[in-house]
This record gives sequence, C-alpha cells and structure tokens, in this order.
Amino acid sequence: MFRVSSRRCSSLAAHLRRSLSRSIHSSVRTNYIDISTRPEIELPYLTGQPTHETRPHYLPMPGYLTPGISAEEYYERRCVLAARLPPNSVAILVGNTVTFSSGSVFHDFQQDNDFYYMTGWLEPNSAAAIVKGATDDDVSLHMFVPAKDPSVQIWEGERSGLEGAMDFFNADVAEDISKVGVELQKLVESSEYVFWDDKSRSKVGNSSAFQSFFSLQSVTRTPKTIQDLVKSSGKTVRSLSSLISEQREVKSDSEIEVMHAAASISSRGINKAMATVGSDSPLYTEKALAQYLEYQFVHGGCDKQAYIPVVASGKNALTIHYTRNDDLLYRDETVFVDAGGKLGGYCADISRTWPNSPKGFSEAQRDIYEAVLAVNKKCIELCHSQLGYSLHDIHERSVKYIGEELRNLTGFDGLTDSNVARFLYPHYIGHHLGLDLHDIPGASRFKKLVPGNVITIEPGVYVPIDEKWPKWYRGIGVRVEDDIVVGSDSVEILNLTSGCVKEVKDIESLIQAGKVTTPGVYDELVVLDI
Ligand code: GLY
Ligand code: MN
Ligand code: MN
Repeated sequence: MFRVSSRRCSSLAAHLRRSLSRSIHSSVRTNYIDISTRPEIELPYLTGQPTHETRPHYLPMPGYLTPGISAEEYYERRCVLAARLPPNSVAILVGNTVTFSSGSVFHDFQQDNDFYYMTGWLEPNSAAAIVKGATDDDVSLHMFVPAKDPSVQIWEGERSGLEGAMDFFNADVAEDISKVGVELQKLVESSEYVFWDDKSRSKVGNSSAFQSFFSLQSVTRTPKTIQDLVKSSGKTVRSLSSLISEQREVKSDSEIEVMHAAASISSRGINKAMATVGSDSPLYTEKALAQYLEYQFVHGGCDKQAYIPVVASGKNALTIHYTRNDDLLYRDETVFVDAGGKLGGYCADISRTWPNSPKGFSEAQRDIYEAVLAVNKKCIELCHSQLGYSLHDIHERSVKYIGEELRNLTGFDGLTDSNVARFLYPHYIGHHLGLDLHDIPGASRFKKLVPGNVITIEPGVYVPIDEKWPKWYRGIGVRVEDDIVVGSDSVEILNLTSGCVKEVKDIESLIQAGKVTTPGVYDELVVLDI
C-alpha cells in the first residue's frame, strides 16, 4: 500500500507554491499549473473531502483537517467539551443529510455546524459520539460514517470511509453508519448522562436508513429511532448544543485567523465591485453584481458565498432582506450590498453602500451615509470587555447615536429614539459571527461580551417613502457592517473587515480610479496559505 508521507506532501505544497508564484507573479506569465505538481494518491488515502495529501494547494500544512484548523485543535475542542460533562456521559452529534430541491437535484450540502466544529467531517449521513468515562482523561471519539462503496463512489465520488475517520479524523472507533442504532444503544446503556438535541424537525433529508434513524419516527419501529432510543433509555438527558454554543462563542486564535482571511478576501471583493462603477465595464443589473461578488470571493480564495446577498439599487434597500436582486442598477442611485464569502466553514458578513455614479454621493445620500458611518465607528469603539457591555447594551447605544446623528440633519428635528427604532432602524446592531452567519442559534444578546467573541456591527438607516420623513431623504437606505473581534481593551479591538473601504473620500476615489490599485489584488488565489 502506498502511504503518502507528510514530508512528501509538504514538499509538494512548497513546489506548488514556487511554481505558482512563478506563473502568477512573474512578469512572464504562463497559463498553466504544471502537471508534475498533481498529487498521486492511492487508496486508502483518497478521501471524501480535501486533505493535505489530496489537495495540498488548499491544505498546505500537514496535520490540518480544514483551512487553518489542525486535527489537534479539533481534538482539543472535544477535550474542552468533555471536561464540562459529568463522568460517564455520552454526547451525540448528528450530521446533516443531503437535501433536494426537486427530484434528484440536490442542494449544496451544508454540514451540521456543531458536528463539524467537533470533528471537521464534511460528508453527509454521518454521526459521532464523544464518550467520557470516569475522568477527564478518559475521552473517546466514536464515528459512524458511510463505508467506502465503489458502486456508490462511481456516482458520488470518494468517501473517507471508516479508515479515513480513524486515520485523518482521529476517531478511536469507527463504525459503518448502518450500525449506528445498535452501537449507539450500547453507548447510551453504558452511560449515566446523554447529551443530545432533537434537531429532527429542522433536518429534512432523503429516505436513507440514516434519516429513518435520526430524523423521522420509524414506521416499523425497527430500527428504533434515536428519539426512541434516548427517551426510553431512562438516562438523564441534557442539551448538548447549549454547551457547544458557549464554546463556539469564544473563537480560538486559529479561528480568528481563518475568519480574518475570509473577511479580507470578501473586503477586497467588495472594493473591486465598488470600483466597477467608474471602470470601462460597469455593471448594469443587481443580478450581475451579485454574481460578480460571489466570483470575486471565490477568485480571492473563499470556498463560496456565505449567504444569499442583498444587492439593492436605491429604494430597494428599504427591504431589509431584499434578496430578489432582480432590478437594474440605476445611475445616481446608491448601490447597497450585504455580502460575504465563506472559508473553511467560517463566514464573513459585510454591508456597504456606494453611489452608482462617477460624480460620487449626492448631498442627501452623503448626509445619511455619514450619519450611519459615524454610528458604525462609535459602536466599534464599544467592542471591548472593559466596558462590560452586552450586544444589547451596544444596540441600545446605537439607537441613541442614530437619533443624535439624524437630529443634526435638516428635517429630522424632534425625532425620538423610539421612532428611530420603529421606523428608520428596525433591526439589531449585530450578531455573533462564525460557522453560522448568525452564530450561534440560541446565543444570548444579554451576555457580557468577552475577548474572542466575534460580532458584527451593522447600524443602518432606511428612510421610508412616506410624508412623515424629509422629502430629500426618502427612499435612501444605508447600512455599514463590519466584523469585529472583541478586545480586552480599546487597543485590542480587531476589525476583520477594515480592508473594505468605507470613508466617503475613499469610496469616491475608488470609483473615480475605476480599479483597485493594491498590487496582486486581481490575481486568483490558488495556494491557501493560512
Ligand atoms: N447578512 C445578514 C446580516 O447582516 O445579518
Ligand atoms: Mn450582513
Ligand atoms: Mn450581519
């Protein structure tokens, strides 16, 4: 059997980097990636997701399971969780199934984020159990995954199989997913506590054995469903996701590095989009701009877009979740964008507003824009733990700040803060950000922020087309959204999206230049070096 040594792969990654830096950055450009750099991998090291061995351009460092996150960090996450479980516990994590839009047409697969956070495993129809014995040192990972099957793989591609679960993902025990009912029953019976969440109603999948065990009440009741198994076990059952949520709320240094990469790539993509306004090839439709952004995120190194973006010309921005993106981009209106890329599962989330005109903002557009920008900056300054603020505390201040800014503008005198929140700024200042865009389902807005939290700061003003509001501002919608790492003091606040221009003069000069001038910014990122 041919085993790919990590030494061989490290040198492959280095070779690839050298060959690419020659072809991409040298003045004499070549238009290919040398075929001699293609890794030659054989069974069993073919896997259902990228590994250092199979995709060294994506995971250039040995020992990394997903971009920027090592197998060791995944192991440590499980240890941190286990330390919070009482002795003799089993924590059950259930992955997602593929979902279908119509017939056999499937959606882009999205793994369950708690399962992914604890394992790094990206294949569907899989599950895991973290078993804690009598002490914190007695922790094992059991993985239940689809076995390799050449007849399926010829259609769906490689699977990592039981071998991959053990060799790459450090499972102590790996079982075929078809045995999950029997094997989990044994683990539950030998434990005192079961940590598990019934997410079945939010998971819709195909009609596999996996689904009949994990998601639906079985018709025949054989095998028993996981609901039956857990509920009839007589064990103490507690929520697992609330524990994992607390862990996921504080990002590690590596997570912040990945998020910083996703945010920087997304920032550059949005800068390029702004510059198209003054370029020789401006965009004319919201749809084309939405696709341009996704392309730039991927071209810059992200895996995909993190969510369906909002791309709204002028008054379309008054719809907070405007995702139709089916209108024209009208000259002299504002372009409102809320978009971001996703890398290794981690999301960026950026909103910017710019004028669709080489002349820059109109006076009214600039008034509203500067008011929102000032609030964005003031709120970012609040993102450190010495103040002891929660997200809700920052939100309350943002409403007050928006009222103050708007009352300085003609036509808004007498505006009350409650009318700000009711009519002009009807959403929240932000949310935690991470593997989930709104990270993490269930996270409290009232908890004091601590260093390592990553949150968005996204004040906005949307002036309704209504006689109640000054005529010259009606139909203008602006949001300025940045991704912020909460600091231990004001100096330690880190704005992950600081590369995305937001000062009026910077936006206007970018549009006038018609291009981003940072060297290399239009190059495709091929070797992901994080
Ligand atoms: N992009 C959705 C949000 O900003 O929350
Ligand atoms: Mn957003
Ligand atoms: Mn957001």
